[in-house]
Amino acid sequence: MKTLTIHGSGRDSQIVVGGRLKDVASYIPDERIVVISDENVAQHYRHEFPSTEAIVLGTGERIKNLSTAQAIYRRLIELEADRSTFIVGIGGGIVCDITGFVASTFMRGLHFGFVASTLLAQVDAGIGGKNGVNLDGFKNMVGTFNQPQFVICDLQMLATLPPREIACGMAEIVKHAAIADPGLFAFLQERCRRALELDPAVLERLVFDSAKIKSAVVNQDEREAGERRKLNFGHTFGHAIETLTGVSHGEAVSAGMAIAAAISVKLELLPPDDAEQLKELLMRLNLPIRVAVDLQRIAETLGKDKKRAGDNIHLVLLQRLGEAVVKELPLNEVRALVQASDSLME
Ligand SMILES: NC(=O)c1ccc[n+]([C@@H]2O[C@H](COP(=O)([O-])OP(=O)(O)OC[C@H]3O[C@@H](n4cnc5c(N)ncnc54)[C@H](O)[C@@H]3O)[C@@H](O)[C@H]2O)c1
Repeated sequence: MKTLTIHGSGRDSQIVVGGRLKDVASYIPDERIVVISDENVAQHYRHEFPSTEAIVLGTGERIKNLSTAQAIYRRLIELEADRSTFIVGIGGGIVCDITGFVASTFMRGLHFGFVASTLLAQVDAGIGGKNGVNLDGFKNMVGTFNQPQFVICDLQMLATLPPREIACGMAEIVKHAAIADPGLFAFLQERCRRALELDPAVLERLVFDSAKIKSAVVNQDEREAGERRKLNFGHTFGHAIETLTGVSHGEAVSAGMAIAAAISVKLELLPPDDAEQLKELLMRLNLPIRVAVDLQRIAETLGKDKKRAGDNIHLVLLQRLGEAVVKELPLNEVRALVQASDSLME
């Protein structure tokens, strides 16, 4: 078991890689607990939940909205939850995002923590204190910055995760390696197959190193005024792809990173061989580098992105594998680059 700490403006957040769901109650002060989870996670792990009320949600990005948040608020009122109630989200990124948002807003804020049960939540979504829900076609448009008290990354829960969801988590590990850690990138290149087979030692290093990169960035820039923007590598295009096609977050980010790398090459920031290595690694991890969606529609959807600043957009590009740069570019120029990116990826 290894731990990391994020020093948030509101509170510290402890990340416990290798912690166990069954021990979650020991991380919680002597408070009443309410669990929020989803039906898949509850089906596999309800017997390990703390013996308390559990609010079990449906699944899928479509439930990450204000209606679900409202339904949870109402259930918390029925359960007579009060300011001394501790909320634990047990699940993937969707459960974590909704739980963090509800806990941060119900009665102006309850204490909360996560047991992250997908690889994607353990390396990314559970960590860093961004919580929120989607509104209409806008990803994560309503939300808060508020750190969970703890994030338990129970690696053993990954055994029941479908292979496609493992691949999605790998996309965020590739992202962290590509923006900040050439050593992690090389490690993953060398141990790709063992990673997909969930070799425990490989997995522990991938989750810990990835969580370390994210924690370090958040410690520098919790509210995304500068350095934290780099964590959005692949996400500007990824969010557009996710909204337009409904493919999962990890797969959309994978295709988004391929587009961002192609644009980085076009702008003569990134050597073409580095872009090739990135695409090759994504493919070896069973991730898409293209999805069936009109690039023009991706280009149009960029205007809805939160990284937009007036007529410009903050775009995260690569200078080499392991080093990212944020460029503020006119939205129209980015739209044109996206539309040309298919030919750039040939
Ligand atoms: N807040 C952030 O900083 C941040 C960062 C990245 C992504 N996200 C968000 O995270 C979400 C994606 O998260 P995700 O990929 O974890 O998706 P998810 O929460 O939908 O989980 C994927 C699927 O796996 C199932 N599942 C979860 N744990 C399981 C387990 N141990 N065994 C079997 N099945 C299990 C879920 O029920 C679901 O069907 C997106 O909404 C994305 O926007 C947030």
